[in-house]
Amino acid sequence: MTASNAVTPKERGHRKTVFSGIQPSGIVHIGNYVGAIRNWAGMLDDHDCTFCVVDLHAMTVPYEPHEMRQRIVDTFTLNMAAGLDPERCCLFVQSHVSEVAELCWILMTCASMGDLSRMTQFKDKSDKLKGQVSAGLFTYPVLMAADILLYRAEVVPVGEDQTQHLEFAREVTRRFNSTFGETFAEPGPLFSDVPRLMGLQNKDKMSKSLNNYISLLDEPEQIWAKLKTAATDPARVRRRDPGTPEICNIFTMHKAFSPPEDIEWSAQGCRSAEIGCIDCKRCVTDNMAAELAPISEEYHELAAAPDRVRQLMERGAETARARARRTLDEVRQRVGLR
Ligand code: TRP
Repeated sequence: MTASNAVTPKERGHRKTVFSGIQPSGIVHIGNYVGAIRNWAGMLDDHDCTFCVVDLHAMTVPYEPHEMRQRIVDTFTLNMAAGLDPERCCLFVQSHVSEVAELCWILMTCASMGDLSRMTQFKDKSDKLKGQVSAGLFTYPVLMAADILLYRAEVVPVGEDQTQHLEFAREVTRRFNSTFGETFAEPGPLFSDVPRLMGLQNKDKMSKSLNNYISLLDEPEQIWAKLKTAATDPARVRRRDPGTPEICNIFTMHKAFSPPEDIEWSAQGCRSAEIGCIDCKRCVTDNMAAELAPISEEYHELAAAPDRVRQLMERGAETARARARRTLDEVRQRVGLR
């Protein structure tokens, strides 16, 4: 080994800090699982991971308080059951660590109104809300920057829809550093290379609000009922028409849930019209159901032990809070509040 690529013990021991936020939608669908949670779970051992149920972000659009309470607990529990093992990462609820609000305020003074007004997600959401647009929705990206910097994330795994928000967080970081001195490393994005699952009609991405999803808690019969009628390659009208797996959402599901031999079987059989869509869907249903069964089981076990879940939430918050306080101590010094 040459000196230039020698790794010091300190470097060898450095596990990159990872942070991401999870919306408390109360359900987790297979799109969330394949696109995010499953990849994150694969990072736990060689990264220092923190994942947060972002209830404060969820308040930026109208909601029912009693539903929110339940959605927070359900989302926390589901993510734990789906692989975010609290023994191997820090999983917590955003509002349980109120330090984020203070850092958010401080970053608000570094954030540019012009940048905020160019956020496409703000434009999309405020168009839909008509007349009920809160300042919280406008400053949503500042709170996201506060999450990232408070826990000193080096790597932020996000979906494409968050690219602009992350770029904004990087800009806020640069402004903070140039105004108050080098304090934070610029957080980098981590995009997942897994294909995005579309909704069951293959029109929009899979989402709770469009009700076009398969939930992690769906039973095999429910999965089958949904897949049976799900869209496939529209050019494959009759069984004997050859199909194009690459444009079929069911094939994407095979790639996400099936072993290599089944993926190959589906691709070959579809192209040659040797198998019909129903055979192909049965196979993917079985593979998907097999992967989801232990997640459901774990979820129901946890859901039956609310005290334990509450305890795990508290423990996650404590770990996160300790880190948050260290960051804020430094920030208060830097900005001249102490
Ligand atoms: N805005 C993100 C989303 O909707 C969630 C989020 C909040 C987040 N804070 C974050 C993601 C910090 C990454 C880092 O998906």
